[in-house]
Amino acid sequence: MFTDHMTLICHVIDKMADLPPPVQNLAEAKVDHDRYANIKEKFVKKYNCEPKFYARAPGRVNLIGEHIDYCGYGVLPMAIEQDIVIAVCPTSDNQLYLSNTDDKFRDFQCSMTNFEINKAKPDWHNYVLCGVKGMTEFISLTNPVGMQCMVDGCVPNSAGLSSSSALVCCAALATMQANNQSRSKKEIADMCASCERYIGTQGGGMDQAISFMARPGTAKKIDFNPLSEEDVILPEGVAFVISNCCVEKNKAATSDFNTRVVECRLAMQVMAKSKELQWQECKNLADLQNKLKLSLQDMAGIVEACLHKEEYSKQEVCEILGVTAEKLAETSLSANTLHVEKFRLYQRAGHVYSEARRVEEFQRICKEVPSDAAQRLGTLMNQSHESCSQQYECSCTELDDLVNLCIKSGAIGSRLTGAGWGGCAVSMVPSSELSEFLRKVKDGYYVVRGLESRVDEALFATQPGSGAAVYIQS
Ligand code: GLA
Repeated sequence: MFTDHMTLICHVIDKMADLPPPVQNLAEAKVDHDRYANIKEKFVKKYNCEPKFYARAPGRVNLIGEHIDYCGYGVLPMAIEQDIVIAVCPTSDNQLYLSNTDDKFRDFQCSMTNFEINKAKPDWHNYVLCGVKGMTEFISLTNPVGMQCMVDGCVPNSAGLSSSSALVCCAALATMQANNQSRSKKEIADMCASCERYIGTQGGGMDQAISFMARPGTAKKIDFNPLSEEDVILPEGVAFVISNCCVEKNKAATSDFNTRVVECRLAMQVMAKSKELQWQECKNLADLQNKLKLSLQDMAGIVEACLHKEEYSKQEVCEILGVTAEKLAETSLSANTLHVEKFRLYQRAGHVYSEARRVEEFQRICKEVPSDAAQRLGTLMNQSHESCSQQYECSCTELDDLVNLCIKSGAIGSRLTGAGWGGCAVSMVPSSELSEFLRKVKDGYYVVRGLESRVDEALFATQPGSGAAVYIQS
């Protein structure tokens, strides 16, 4: 009887990603009603009418599995409470009106169907346009309704907490609701991962997946191709703390992110070629593993055997693959990495395969909960940071300093989270030592660096939050 009940619950939870995001009356929703009243007030002031509904999509913190989603490997994020909210009133004039509660983001207006997404200068409204375009095409709307929008965000920007994806997801959800359409969380998440690439960054699907599929109280293991999710219950007695090193990094504004994506692709192509596979038919490092029918551990051996530690020049890669530089640009590069001449393939592929193993191990420990679970998870987080910093080179001095300080201040594990090159660390801290930890990190990082005024938004404990939703103004 008990087992049947459990199976039923699991089945229902399993199916939740196949449902659309929840639509609820605002008055009944468990939200900060003062915040929504404030957004509404600004909306009324701007547009002289009331919003009909609010779309919200959360940011996320990734606990482990960095820079491996776009290689086809599973990741382990949880949604955070901080989110993007868009108050919307549909209009009949086919225009998109954007305003932000924060004046530093300037107003913008364009047609719902005819606009350019500026990759060279990724201003805030371009992320909204990605979501609008993605959803309009996805549901084949030739004549979408217009929208007056007031956007309010509290996900720190350029901090590795996925503020940009939350904005894309929220805009897509708003467009769907305004047009009285409904699609499953899974479908929307998949679509949002693709449409965010209009901005030029070749990210994976982690941020969009967790923004839609999150559930309070649980982290998620997210897998791709096809997209799926599974609850990961974190051990008791620990808290997860986010700390921002306050170095800002907008991943769409430089080529660093796409260079890593390209290095992983080239590593996969060079290994595939040396294993006499059709390298142009391999999709990513996970696909290569599947085609070779090997374990992740075996793949570490393939990296050793097929790749050298020294940098590869573009010419060397061309010679190995037997293509011209023009052909390589077509098969392997992105628009903003055409200028890159040197690639580290051994280090990048080494990171990906080892990080994919750490994710599996992390999930296994959370399932089995051995007596030293927290210690073992902490060790995996530390190893992940070391690999991101040394092999993947996506950290920076400030972030490395902050991670070290977090460990010294009592964290069992600490690592950079998100794209890196700045932004946040996530630390696992015994709950009993949380206040002491926060004090030490505040003094040792923020006070020392004259960043004391930023502590409230930059250093906080977090819980697994809920996913995207629509609230109807009653
Ligand atoms: C960004 C991308 C994600 C993922 C992370 C790094 O957030 O949007 O898809 O690649 O970086 O793990």
